[in-house]
Amino acid sequence: MNEPRQPTCILAIESSCDETAAAVVRDGRRVASNVIASQHELHEAYGGVVPEIASRAHLERIGPIVDRALLEAGIDLEDLDAVAAGVRPGLIGSLLVGVSFAKALAWSRGLPFLGVDHVESHLLAGLIDRPEVAWPAVGLVVSGGHTCLYELSGPLDLRLLGATIDDAAGEAFDKAATMLGLPYPGGPELDRLAEDSGAEPEVELPISLMRRDSLDFSFSGVKTAMLYAIRGTPRREGGRTVFERSGEDLAPERRAVLAASFRHAVVAALVRKTTLALETTGARTLLAGGGVVANRLLRRELEALAVARGLELRMPEMAYCMDNAAMLGVTAHERLVRGQRDPLETTASPTTRRAR
Ligand code: KG4
Ligand code: ZN
Repeated sequence: MNEPRQPTCILAIESSCDETAAAVVRDGRRVASNVIASQHELHEAYGGVVPEIASRAHLERIGPIVDRALLEAGIDLEDLDAVAAGVRPGLIGSLLVGVSFAKALAWSRGLPFLGVDHVESHLLAGLIDRPEVAWPAVGLVVSGGHTCLYELSGPLDLRLLGATIDDAAGEAFDKAATMLGLPYPGGPELDRLAEDSGAEPEVELPISLMRRDSLDFSFSGVKTAMLYAIRGTPRREGGRTVFERSGEDLAPERRAVLAASFRHAVVAALVRKTTLALETTGARTLLAGGGVVANRLLRRELEALAVARGLELRMPEMAYCMDNAAMLGVTAHERLVRGQRDPLETTASPTTRRAR
């Protein structure tokens, strides 16, 4: 059953990893502003996010980013009904910047504060600017930090069906891209190489299925297989692991074939488990969110799956696939209209809720 839309104006703040973001969301569905400051240039040299650098950059940027979000939405603080922030999961020092800022703002203006879950919000990004969803739904979150399948009987009623037991899909894409010598952050680069080269996935890499009836994922095996495919079989020599060749020796055509093969293996695992989740739940809608949903092969495969099963697929626009604050505003709206508020004692947590 669809909830009646209630008019709300919510400022949401995101600082869980390496994006400082703020958004103003109206009525839980319309994005009045969506400002994102990426820190990629600060972490590039290290090949990954450095927590201490990330939290310091959030601290410098959060004030101006919130100002810009209000300005672009054409509103003042008086127009707000609530302030929300992503409270989990993420880097604790980074999360604390956004959460403390949001709580201080809420307290000083006498507004309700809502601390929302970042991973669950990735799924609700599919509600932005769209008609109401037919529940129940299966939700697939694929990001740099998380790979989860949920059953949803409403926007806030989630049951975790499965999750990765090791690497997240985005993390695996990033690591494989590094092995191929592609620039950071590598997921989109690997996708681009596979797509633009038109290379066939000729190298057989393992498609992780865990147990046949399990809805969990594992991507460490395909990552190791990729390493061996690039550098040959390792051997021990004088107490050290030595590979047959270096990643730099890869011919461009071989690099493209390996990129296509890796993308194929990861996407196949995601699609097979999503299909199993749809079969076991009888869901009418498939919600997909998180940075990896920008992957073109995954988008095509999910579209084909939805057509084959006659269900509605909700994939957010690219801007709402990657980390953003607008998706947090949607979750905060759903909670606010149900009378939910969080106390100012609420604090950040590095892990997500595991409601299995
Ligand atoms: O959701 P997100 O912005 O941040 C997290 O919550 O982690 O996801 C970022 C992840 C990164 O690992 C990035 O490499 C991956 O999404 N990603 C992609 C693509 N675009 C972003 N992975 C594969 N193909 C893409 N096109
Ligand atoms: Zn995310």
